[in-house]
Amino acid sequence: SASDPELVARAVRAKAALGERVFVLGHHYQRDEVIQFADVTGDSFKLAREAAARPEAEYIVFCGVHFMAESADILTGDDQRVVLPDLAAGCSMADMATFDQVEEAWEVLTDLGLADITVPVTYMNSSADIKAFCGRNGGAVCTSSNARRALTWAFDQGPEGPEKAAGDRKVLFLPDQHLGRNTAVLEMGFSLDDCVVYNPHRPNGGLTDRQLKDAKVILWRGHCSVHGRFSPECVDEVRDRVPGVKVLVHPECKHEVVTKADHVGSTEYIIKMLDEAPAGSAWAVGTELNLVKRLAARHPDKTVTFLDRTVCYCSTMNRIDLPHLVWALESLAAGEVVNQITVDPETTRWAKIALDRMLALP
Ligand code: 13P
Ligand code: SF4
Repeated sequence: SASDPELVARAVRAKAALGERVFVLGHHYQRDEVIQFADVTGDSFKLAREAAARPEAEYIVFCGVHFMAESADILTGDDQRVVLPDLAAGCSMADMATFDQVEEAWEVLTDLGLADITVPVTYMNSSADIKAFCGRNGGAVCTSSNARRALTWAFDQGPEGPEKAAGDRKVLFLPDQHLGRNTAVLEMGFSLDDCVVYNPHRPNGGLTDRQLKDAKVILWRGHCSVHGRFSPECVDEVRDRVPGVKVLVHPECKHEVVTKADHVGSTEYIIKMLDEAPAGSAWAVGTELNLVKRLAARHPDKTVTFLDRTVCYCSTMNRIDLPHLVWALESLAAGEVVNQITVDPETTRWAKIALDRMLALP
């Protein structure tokens, strides 16, 4: 654990032995015991850019979840190896959209003559083959820090080429219905009625042809198992409990929660808000617990509480612990590449197109 001095010393030694050859990335939801060894911490957007900006690192050790390591492999050079210290660090949201399900949904839209005017946009939290699907079909990737810009691009500008007429365009948003809805409704002026939810487990997504034709935003029926547990009642409850509290939540929270909050944004945004908040201010934060605990420790002059005390850590983020990190670093230092994440060349090619469209957003 964090306080095991022997493991800490081993991690320090292995990292020093590797020197410039290794670069360690840490997502904000990682444990303290792991984050202390990150060369850079960030939200998924920042970490994707950081991975792409380290051509000199032979090994990228990604302390985060599988889809992030895949994106790093796509964005780094062929001779660079991306390592995920525990292969069981997946993401339940990413698992809610499989390639076959998305292909099937696309066939439904094609049969209705809608695929030609639909731009698929996938949240970073998706497998590489879903990103490749978006790249192949004129779409893009987005993260929680650029979802509005990506959707604006999808409606107004992208993709290049005449095939998707602007004006009557639609977006198929994968796989997080909440980020999609919150962005479309709260940031872009769409109404709730402009959005429909496509259920991959039902024929036609559980929707009528009319509903699909009328929708502006087709939301995939996926969600984050951590953020999905915050409720509007816990916002009311914390406002009663802590006078003057400001409620700050991640856009993976339900629409009813986000509409009751004072501020909404990515993990990087949440950190910045608290850094800039005046001493004495009170905050209730609705995001993963490792991050909220770190924020509370970092701001002893402010009151930082967890929005709902019954919500817990992201269990897959927490798979990466100090013993796994030590094992990965020591193996690399001994010349053995363990837990390498590789995306095949064809998937890489198309997924990179979708990721590059995101990285090029104004
Ligand atoms: P961001 O760090 O981009 O806000 O993503 C949150 C998340 O759930 C990552 O799994
Ligand atoms: Fe996936 Fe949610 Fe965990 Fe992020 S916090 S890795 S979206 S389950």
